[in-house]
Amino acid sequence: MEKDFYHKIIQHNKNWVSKKLALDADFFKKLEHQQQPSLLWIGCADSRVPANEIIGAESGEVFVHRNISNMVIHSDMSLLSVLDYAVTILKVKHIIVCGHYNCGGINAAMSKQHFGILDNWIRHIKDVYRFHSKELDAITSETQKSNRFVELNIVEQVCNLAKTSIVQAAWANKQPLSIHGWVYGVGSGIIKDLGVNFSSDDDLSAIYQLNF
Ligand code: CO
Repeated sequence: MEKDFYHKIIQHNKNWVSKKLALDADFFKKLEHQQQPSLLWIGCADSRVPANEIIGAESGEVFVHRNISNMVIHSDMSLLSVLDYAVTILKVKHIIVCGHYNCGGINAAMSKQHFGILDNWIRHIKDVYRFHSKELDAITSETQKSNRFVELNIVEQVCNLAKTSIVQAAWANKQPLSIHGWVYGVGSGIIKDLGVNFSSDDDLSAIYQLNF
């Protein structure tokens, strides 16, 4: 089964190239030397949440970073490098943090299970629970608690992006940049905008505002 899938995906690539070229003979030529995405997507690594596919985006339209539970951790060099490149060089206009219901990382953070090295990553998600423990502890249904935790985590990661010097420097330079929080339903395919929207450092608690 696994071997079949491995061979199939090479063939899928060939089919995909043919289809693209049939619609536009210059499709790949146009992308060869540049990219101008207007959007940075920060999503969960979960296989059920493929960034481009669920928003109907083409090659070249979305800059993507994915990790377990769409976390924005200030010591994560990979995330910071992606963010810096997207904001400072590519000058994306929007950043979307897209989490999803039924998130394994969120459920792991709700449990006391030990996973190994992954515990260190999950710890950051547990911190989000602690910030919102009053609200989350009051929810008796485990499913509803998980769903709310997913949403609160997304909002927290949007805030974490706004706290970075990368994003605040862009705002100080009057660069248009909005950060949004979305949640995706893996059982419905539907995206919900959580309505959290940061577009200047006025949206941020004063203690995090940096002077440039
Ligand atoms: Co997930």
